[in-house]
Amino acid sequence: MASGDHLKALLKSHIDGDDRHFYAIAMQLAAHEAKQGHVRLAEELRKLIDAAKARRNAEVHGLPIPITKPRGELASLLQVSYPKNRLADMVLDSGVADSLRQVIKEQRYFAKLRDHGLHPRRKVLLVGPPGTGKTLTAATLAGELGIPLFMVRLEVLITKYMGETAAKLRQIFDALTSVRGVYLFDEFDAIGSQRGLANDVGEARRILNSFLMMIEQDDSSSLIIAATNHPEILDYALFRRFDDVIEYHLPDTEQIRQVLRMRLGRFAPKRPRWASLVESAQGLSHADIARAVHDAIKDAVMHDAESIDQAALKQFLINRQSMRDRGHRSTLGA
Ligand SMILES: Nc1ncnc2c1ncn2[C@@H]1O[C@H](COP(=O)(O)OP(=O)(O)O)[C@@H](O)[C@H]1O
Ligand SMILES: [Mg+2]
Repeated sequence: MASGDHLKALLKSHIDGDDRHFYAIAMQLAAHEAKQGHVRLAEELRKLIDAAKARRNAEVHGLPIPITKPRGELASLLQVSYPKNRLADMVLDSGVADSLRQVIKEQRYFAKLRDHGLHPRRKVLLVGPPGTGKTLTAATLAGELGIPLFMVRLEVLITKYMGETAAKLRQIFDALTSVRGVYLFDEFDAIGSQRGLANDVGEARRILNSFLMMIEQDDSSSLIIAATNHPEILDYALFRRFDDVIEYHLPDTEQIRQVLRMRLGRFAPKRPRWASLVESAQGLSHADIARAVHDAIKDAVMHDAESIDQAALKQFLINRQSMRDRGHRSTLGA
């Protein structure tokens, strides 16, 4: 049976209206029962908690939890997924982490803020070098909020015919109103600059203008996330249409170490010489480091080793450095 302390804590959190604490204790209770061998009871408790949480989320946001798939033309424009990503799994500057926590918090208090005539942050522009977690952030916001992620497929959106692009944009903004979700416009410079994918400048300008108009008018409960590696070519008018602009950076020494540790997991070398590994990773992005670790782990697995070889990982990091340098040269047109 549940301990007296559990019951007291449960009642207290209920009286305080502290839902999160209430569910946390209820989960502890389920775990406690499971440990006592009361597996059926534990399972029933967990189901009750899940159902109550789902109902509560739906109430908070005034919308049913959508298990939707876009239909018709929308299906080609929007790619839907239901990410489980969590903020704690990202390595971020404290400034970026604070901004994201603020977005999540305002979303969790959505109804309350709206009831007071306040506007929760919903339109966020993410800028920074490739591989620093901008796309991952959209999935993380969806995961934290328990809502679907809709990725806008720019190559389908942007057509040769301006009228078509505007009509497609309109469909996306209509979807945003009818199904609450995180809507990601990735590689946003394709829309947000006057030298995007569209092949003439006048046309690019018109696409940008329809976007500006639609984002301005949008009063839905969805999140609009735009991400770009090239903020410098974005049209200036865009910046004030967003509630927040979040700047991502390459990882510093401590963050490099965190990415290495997190990615290595149980494959970490027995006596890691972090300083030396970190040195080889200077200037790499989070994604570069993650890939180098991935390569080293594959190597370990193929050799039936229990942990990665430090020298091999160092070499994979150095290889990433030269790949990055080659990438730089080719983007500079050299
Ligand atoms: N800040 C981060 N924290 C943890 N992992 C990251 C981070 N940034 C990137 N990664 C890893 O690199 C992958 C690619 O990153 P991505 O979000 O596509 O970068 P961007 O969109 O900024 O180019 C991610 O899926 C993740 O595995
Ligand atoms: Mg990206």
